[in-house]
Amino acid sequence: MKYWDFDTIYRQAPASEPERQYYFIEKTREILQDKFNDDVISGEARKRYGKEKLDELLAKKQIGTFMIRTFGCQMNARDSEKLCGILQQAGLAASEEETADFVLYNTCTVRDNANQKVYGHLGYLQTLKKKNPWMTIALCGCMMQEPAVVQRIQKSYRFVDLIFGTHNIFKLAELLFRCLAEKNTIVDIWESTDQVVEDLPAERKYPFKSGVNIMYGCNNFCSYCIVPYVRGRERSRKPEEILSEIRRLASDGVKEVMLLGQNVNSYGKNLSEPVTFAELLRQVNEVEGIERIRFMTSHPKDLSEDLILAMKNLPKICRHLHLPLQSGSSRILKIMNRQYTKEQYLELVAQIRQAVPDISLTTDIIVGFPGETEADFEETLDVVRKVRYDSAFTFIYSKRTGTPASVMDNQVPEALVKERFERLLKEVQQISSQVCGRDTGTVQEVLVECENDHQDGYVSGRLSNNLLVHFPGSASLIGSLVPVELTESKGFYYMGRMADKS
Ligand code: SAH
Ligand code: SF4
Ligand code: F3S
Repeated sequence: MKYWDFDTIYRQAPASEPERQYYFIEKTREILQDKFNDDVISGEARKRYGKEKLDELLAKKQIGTFMIRTFGCQMNARDSEKLCGILQQAGLAASEEETADFVLYNTCTVRDNANQKVYGHLGYLQTLKKKNPWMTIALCGCMMQEPAVVQRIQKSYRFVDLIFGTHNIFKLAELLFRCLAEKNTIVDIWESTDQVVEDLPAERKYPFKSGVNIMYGCNNFCSYCIVPYVRGRERSRKPEEILSEIRRLASDGVKEVMLLGQNVNSYGKNLSEPVTFAELLRQVNEVEGIERIRFMTSHPKDLSEDLILAMKNLPKICRHLHLPLQSGSSRILKIMNRQYTKEQYLELVAQIRQAVPDISLTTDIIVGFPGETEADFEETLDVVRKVRYDSAFTFIYSKRTGTPASVMDNQVPEALVKERFERLLKEVQQISSQVCGRDTGTVQEVLVECENDHQDGYVSGRLSNNLLVHFPGSASLIGSLVPVELTESKGFYYMGRMADKS
């Protein structure tokens, strides 16, 4: 490699964002190119990637490979698209973990099992890196916002080269550059931020649908939840920024957007010119080319009448609402700091169903919150039976360090939680297999997403209510909305056949 004057490169970097990151994307690309040229000449590149992959890289003028593994929620999935966009712009090609020069894990810590999964994979990465010492390994995301995690990684997983958090993901190019330049472990975690850096490249996983962040962070501090600690306080993006991103997506061929935030119903409250979520939806509904609008997640305490009206009146809003219940017991809800009662939740569901009768409702439920009694659990089952959810994500309560619930002294014994969890799961599944089939025989619009993995000549897509449909069709349909007759319900999905447009 030639001599690199890193001091000058740092000195000349622009101070403002996102210009600074575009500068570092370019500098990273230059160093990687230099190294890649050396490796091609020495034959190292051919050994590393294999002849076929190397020829492909050369043909596409790419100069190395990367792999991102994403854990956790839609927010992390969207972040990973941004991380991916930056790496591609720096000249890297997506590849398998085994042959990647740069491996990045975008982590989740909402429950301990999300955490354990990351540690498990790290064990595997260590064996890979022993074989492939050229690998650069990086960790980012929610888990990295916990000091104890970072300490453990620095002590027991010393092969990790780069650690950063949730507030500075936009800085990936600069951090990767530093990794290459300083050849030291780089740790850069911010405790909080009021900065929202946008307009960096992003690589979308699907050409026809995309997540769009409308806000970051959470202010609710539900007593079991770690998200507010690792994602910081609520920050809404300005409506004009969101709308211009959505218009751009539409002109790029995107038909479906999913508006993302931990509590979209409180969108806009902290803007200098406050805007409600319902108002934002009305504006998104006007964007030409966008045909479907989804959103995640709605907190029941902030779901307004205006939003119900918007869902009733705006044709592009999908017939699906994810409305996390967490518990059916008003007593437990209070200790969870959810700020609604069982009765208020049921009343809300009734109002929504009255306004949008064909809406599909899904939820999240936690079993075994500290102090949960059999009677509390029965209340949860009661809500499940009354609401009859299309589907429910059920979670065993997981103690998260630093949250108020983690120091409550009446933790429920594991065996009891497991037993309740099984009972809940059975109830939820039984109901959803009955509920999900209700549209059998009707013709519905399907956004075709992919070819079917299991059956040749079939494609798969989603209904407005988010259920999957498989039907005979060709790959040319991917990304279009087509009318499909739902011929058979399979419980959690449908089989269908294309219907005539009428
Ligand atoms: N902001 C969303 C939820 C984000 S976390 C909301 O308020 O609905 C996704 C789900 O993980 C939560 O709805 C909750 O059901 C579950 N969850 C969060 N913390 C948990 C914990 N400590 N143990 C078990 N499940 C938890
Ligand atoms: Fe966690 Fe509650 Fe915020 Fe959702 S609303 S992210 S459950 S604190
Ligand atoms: Fe997990 Fe962070 Fe999402 S903790 S659920 S990835 S906000």
